[in-house]
Parts: sequence; structure tokens; C-alpha cells
Amino acid sequence: MEAVQKKFGAVELCMEAFSGTGFIGFALLAQGLCRKLILTDINQKALDYCEKTIVYNGLADKVTAYRSDCFDSIPEMKVDLIVGNPPHSWTASEEVREKDIRTFDPHMRIHKKFYNQAKNFLKPNGNILLWEDIRATKPEDFYEMIEESGLKFIDYTQVNIHVPFSWRKFITLKNGEILSKNYFRKINLEVQL
Ligand SMILES: C[S@@+](CC[C@H](N)C(=O)[O-])C[C@H]1O[C@@H](n2cnc3c(N)ncnc32)[C@H](O)[C@@H]1O
Repeated sequence: MEAVQKKFGAVELCMEAFSGTGFIGFALLAQGLCRKLILTDINQKALDYCEKTIVYNGLADKVTAYRSDCFDSIPEMKVDLIVGNPPHSWTASEEVREKDIRTFDPHMRIHKKFYNQAKNFLKPNGNILLWEDIRATKPEDFYEMIEESGLKFIDYTQVNIHVPFSWRKFITLKNGEILSKNYFRKINLEVQL
């Protein structure tokens, strides 16, 4: 929220790609940082929850959710800002990562596809702000794919994120040992058309 506010301020139309249940997008809308919101994810279950949130909060005139593999099934549109937390995260083991659609991006195929398609959905001077897991990737991993897609890498910032207790417990306890502190180090990766 803070990063969007500082870097872009309030925008007209925001898209949360890889939205899952859409908590980033709904939070931006709730804080007045966008007037309208598009949510997209490949997982129908996650989108069912998005729809419930839309209906429950009477947001049908402001929020639309699409099931899509990256932008494949998104109708033509241009947005001011794309935010998202793409798959490719640190997991306790390779095996865990490969079984989870939220964390697995083999050879960065999904990232490359996303960046290749994204420019067609951005307004001139539109921006992308992605939240990446620094334990799984470094900013340099993205430079080439961003440039090859006709986009411009602008900046990144490293942030420390507090995670909910239940999640923290899940990742921190193994044989009674604490594997990580109670925050994740993430990077906000900023890209512009
Ligand atoms: C790291 S999760 C982030 C979800 C959301 N921000 C959250 O925290 O609940 C990555 C999301 O990307 C989605 N995803 C994976 N592959 C995808 C693809 N090819 N196209 C669109 N979404 C995809 C997954 O379903 C998952 O919801």
C-alpha cells in the first residue's frame, strides 16, 4: 500500500495479476488508491472467493475478476497500474514448490509470458509493481526479460514483511528449530512501459 501511494498515488484503473483472493487489489480499492479494479488468476477457486467479496461488498460496478493464464483471456483494455505477487517463492523444499501453483514457475516461464503480454495492457506511462520473494530470486533475474518485452526496469526496493502467526508457525518450526525470523524479505520490482 505504502509503495503504491508513494510511487504512483491514486490511479483510475488498477489490475492485480496473479491475484489469488485479491487482497492486494481490494486493499488498494479500499484505501482509495484506485477507482476501479481488475483481478486475474488462473485458479477458479481463488476467483470464486473474489466474486464472493465483490458481491458481499456491493462492488460489481468497480471490480471485475477474470480467470486467465497470464493475459490470455483478458479482454482488450489499458490500465494505469498492474500490481501482483507472481508464483515463484521460497519453499522449504523443491518438492513442495513444484506441487504448489502459488510457488512454481519453471524456468520463469510464467514471468516471461506475463512481461511479454503486459505492455499491451498498460496505458502510456503505465506502471507495474510486482512483489517478489528475494529468497527465490534477485532483481537481476528479471532485467533481461523486462527489457526484451519492451518495458523499462525502473527500480526495486527491499521490504520486510510480517506474516500471520499461523503461516509463520508453518514455516519456522522444524524439529523444534526456528528456520526463519518472523518476517520475509521481499522486493518491490518497479517497471514502466
Ligand atoms: C504467490 S500467489 C499470490 C496470490 C495472492 N497475492 C495471495 O497472496 O493470495 C501466485 C498466484 O498466481 C496464480 N497463478 C499461477 N500461475 C498462473 C498463471 N499462469 N496465470 C495466472 N495466474 C497464475 C496462482 O493461482 C496464485 O494465486
